[in-house]
Amino acid sequence: MDTISKFDFDLRSDILAPASDIVASAIAAAARRPGEFLWREDPIERALEHRVCEILGKSAAALFPTCTAANIAGLVALGARERALVLEDMCHLMTVEMAGLDWLSSPQVLSYSQQGGALDLTKCLGQSDAIFCLENTHNRRGGTVLNAQQTNAIAQQAKERGWSVFLDGSRLWNASVASGDSPAALASPVDLVSVSFNKGLGAPNGAALAGDERTIKSAVEAWRLLGGICRPSHVLAAGALAVLDDISLLGKDHALAQEAAAAVALLPGYSVTNPQTNIVLISGDKLGLDGAELCASLGRAGLGCLAFGPRHVRLVFHRGISADSAPMIADIFRKIASRERDD
Ligand SMILES: Cc1ncc(COP(=O)(O)O)c(C=O)c1O
Repeated sequence: MDTISKFDFDLRSDILAPASDIVASAIAAAARRPGEFLWREDPIERALEHRVCEILGKSAAALFPTCTAANIAGLVALGARERALVLEDMCHLMTVEMAGLDWLSSPQVLSYSQQGGALDLTKCLGQSDAIFCLENTHNRRGGTVLNAQQTNAIAQQAKERGWSVFLDGSRLWNASVASGDSPAALASPVDLVSVSFNKGLGAPNGAALAGDERTIKSAVEAWRLLGGICRPSHVLAAGALAVLDDISLLGKDHALAQEAAAAVALLPGYSVTNPQTNIVLISGDKLGLDGAELCASLGRAGLGCLAFGPRHVRLVFHRGISADSAPMIADIFRKIASRERDD
């Protein structure tokens, strides 16, 4: 596989997953013909929406350029301007997307915390009308999974209060593969769900929002006002449609994440999460390295990752990393640990 990365192992994100030959051919074939002019006119975009509805068990869906766009437009469509947002304190919406949401809708934000399936809603219980947000898998918590039963139980608590439920499912595909529950079973307890086509699945770009027809129309309208609608959409839609046949392949990324995590955990000096999906969080605390220092050392040694919070680095496994690379990745960690101990 050709690579232009400056790293031997580029684990900064699963958006780096390369397109398969099938996906590249689908994109090339679409690019050879002109796209349609208006939203929902293009047959490939229609086919993609249809397939997303089928997979997620929803009645309507729309293509968005990014998952951030799908999340923000979806929350505005659910009424973020008038209703409180109940958000988990470590979720992507809270930690990364809030500035955009705030600029568009100045929502009242209430946060809750979530450990595994257990929810602490104490700070939010007085809220009569709200949009309750979930993330699955959970990026900052290391790709952790909510299965269908947990999602149901959590969504039920929100529904009992008359709240709407929104799911940031940027990596819902990983949650499905890891839990064995279908994407529809994971999405059915929520009103609106976003998914990415470019995280792990290997489309160059694209995301979707799925829910009921009225909310999807309103989300698209909100996004159109900002000039964010993709048109012609056929090239983007073709890549997204093609990756949906490959969801189960994400299991290989999960297996590689587990193998690499287990190999690094055997080394002295590191604390390593036991990955549920494709994300591994590693701390070099015991070597006296904070997240930024460990990330810089790994980068110099040829392994790209991100510093995650003050203590950790995040490694995200994807199809661009070969299945036999766990020992070589662990060796990079081993060399850094012995250098630190010798210093
Ligand atoms: C959980 C989660 N939601 C949303 C996003 C935003 O996705 P995008 O980069 O497509 O805007 C990300 C990006 O990594 C993410 O991890």
